[in-house]
Amino acid sequence: MPTHEAVDAFLTATLVGEDPILDAALAAQHDAGLPPIEVAPVNAKFLHLLTRIAGARRVLEIGTLGGYSTIWFARAVGARGRVVTIEAEEANAAIARDNLARAGVADRVEVRVGRGADVLPTLAGTEPFDLVFIDADKESNTIYLDWAARLGRPGTVVVLDNVVRGGEVADAATADSKVRGARAGLVMLGEDPRFDATALQTLDRKGWDGIAVAIVVDATASGRV
Ligand code: DHB
Ligand code: MG
Repeated sequence: MPTHEAVDAFLTATLVGEDPILDAALAAQHDAGLPPIEVAPVNAKFLHLLTRIAGARRVLEIGTLGGYSTIWFARAVGARGRVVTIEAEEANAAIARDNLARAGVADRVEVRVGRGADVLPTLAGTEPFDLVFIDADKESNTIYLDWAARLGRPGTVVVLDNVVRGGEVADAATADSKVRGARAGLVMLGEDPRFDATALQTLDRKGWDGIAVAIVVDATASGRV
């Protein structure tokens, strides 16, 4: 019986394919000692397709790491699109800037260095984002979801990464702060009238995890408040 790793390898080879620029980005961030926690290629391409399906022109990413997913978003928004990506670690941001430059998309990506909770308020008053990808410190998920709604508009797509964490999310008594963050994010997506959401479990080269996918709704018009 083939394993889920074999399936991931098959799907990646068949549907994602080879890409020297993305391979170089991964090699650069791995060589720099960044943890290998970037989204798996099949999921990165899912995010890319979702961005195109939504017709998103402005993407906000919270948690850049080495910029692997950022390149996928930058390609999805096109030459006239914009990606704002927030990274807490200057060293990671430097890797990301190199990777984005090598990918030829640096002109459409703004890398902002700082804690999400500090940088996000500075984005208020700009044009709303069409898609927000939250993939940073899990303990801050609810803060990031709140900003996603504020910086979005009705119709904005919100994706929250790592909401299953090997199944630990189903353990209401967990002491793991990242799992508690995942649970808090999901509870907020279920209860907060600004969102309509679901979640999908994923099994890929990073193991068993999942993403929540939400749309920002007009809480006053939806009758949910
Ligand atoms: C972790 C963070 C991630 O964003 C991820 O995709 C996987 C693991 C972590 O911090 O453990
Ligand atoms: Mg993640």
